[in-house]
Formats: sequence, C-alpha cells, structure tokens
Amino acid sequence: MDVVTYRDVGSAPPKPVSEDWIAAAFCPPDCRKEAQQAVLAESDQLTAELVAADLIVIGAPMYNFGLPAQLKAWIDNIVRVGVTFGFDRSRSGEPYWPMLPLGKRLVILTARGDFGYDHGGRLAGMNLVEAGLKIPMAYIGLHDTNTVAIEYDEFADGRLMASIAAAEVAVDHLVGRLLASDPAGN
Ligand SMILES: Cc1cc2nc3c(=O)[nH]c(=O)nc-3n(C[C@H](O)[C@H](O)[C@H](O)COP(=O)(O)O)c2cc1C
Repeated sequence: MDVVTYRDVGSAPPKPVSEDWIAAAFCPPDCRKEAQQAVLAESDQLTAELVAADLIVIGAPMYNFGLPAQLKAWIDNIVRVGVTFGFDRSRSGEPYWPMLPLGKRLVILTARGDFGYDHGGRLAGMNLVEAGLKIPMAYIGLHDTNTVAIEYDEFADGRLMASIAAAEVAVDHLVGRLLASDPAGN
C-alpha cells in the first residue's frame, strides 16, 4: 500500500533558517553539538520525508509573484548541504552536486489571482512561483516536474470557472501519464 505523507506548511510553517541553523548545517555531522542537532531536527525530518517520497505534490498560491513565505521556509529547510546537495569548494569544475535519490517526480499545483503567467502570457516573466520551486528542486536532483495552474481567482467569474475546469482535466491527464510511466510499477 502507498504511504501518503501530508504536510500543511501554511498552518504549521517550518522555522525560517537562522544564523544558528546555517552554522549547524555547515558543521560536519560528527562534530555537531547537541544544541546544533536540535536546531536541525525539523530540517532532518523534512528532508527525510522528501528522501522517502517517490512523488511530491506541492500546492502553492502565488503571493506577490512568488512563493508564500511558509513554503519558502520549507525549501530552505530541505536544501541541506551534505544531505540533499553536496558542496566541495576544492572540487574542480562544478563544486555543487545533487544528492537526492533519482527517480522522484514533482507536481506543482498552483493558483493565481491574475492571468497570463504561463509561457507566452502577458505576465510570463513575473511568475516566480514555478521558478522558485523548480530551480531549487532541480538543484538537489529533482528534474521531473509537471505544473497545473488555476488563474483568474481574483475575477471570480466565468473565466475562473473555465480555468478550474481546464485544470481538472489537466490533472486527470497528468495522473494518467504519471500512472502509465510509474517507475515503481504501482
Ligand atoms: C497576500 C496575497 C498576495 C497575492 N499576490 C498575487 C500576485 O502577485 N499575483 C496574482 O496573480 N495573484 C496574487 N494573489 C492572489 C492569489 O494568488 C490567488 O487568490 C490564489 O488563488 C490564492 O490561493 P488560495 O485560495 O489557495 O489561498 C495574492 C493573494 C494574496 C492573499
């Protein structure tokens, strides 16, 4: 049976990273003091959830063109040196490398009040939600991403209804595609 882990970062936001968090994360694990381990405990849990997941579904509204602060705090907690990405400044060429196990898939379900944020739209260059999720997730090794968006939320008229209906169809198609290509064969 598939295990589903649900995490509502809106109602229980992860702590934002702090100076102590950064010092602890960059301290080698075997040298960390107890207090430093405690500072990283929430991040340990969030990264463990991510590492265990085959499919990650993120639901995110657009706030001021980007991610809500709570979701950004989650990103900051799961992009962890030595856990989800590697860093070695003495390495020749690329000093950073992804550490997330391969084969994961990401689905982004997003909602916007305005319209025209998709490729070629009037506000396409201002969509920092998808970039804000896709770029850090790719950085730690997750490149297989699909997005479905609802627009016109602030108009609350037929255009919103049509956008919701189109998104529901898109989600059905996406689920079919994901099931057909499930690497785990579930
Ligand atoms: C604080 C705040 C900022 C928002 N900023 C934007 C924005 O920059 N662009 C946009 O299109 N919609 C914006 N919206 C509208 C939301 O993206 C939209 O209503 C979305 O559907 C909210 O999702 P939710 O109902 O899941 O909270 C904003 C809404 C709020 C409350």
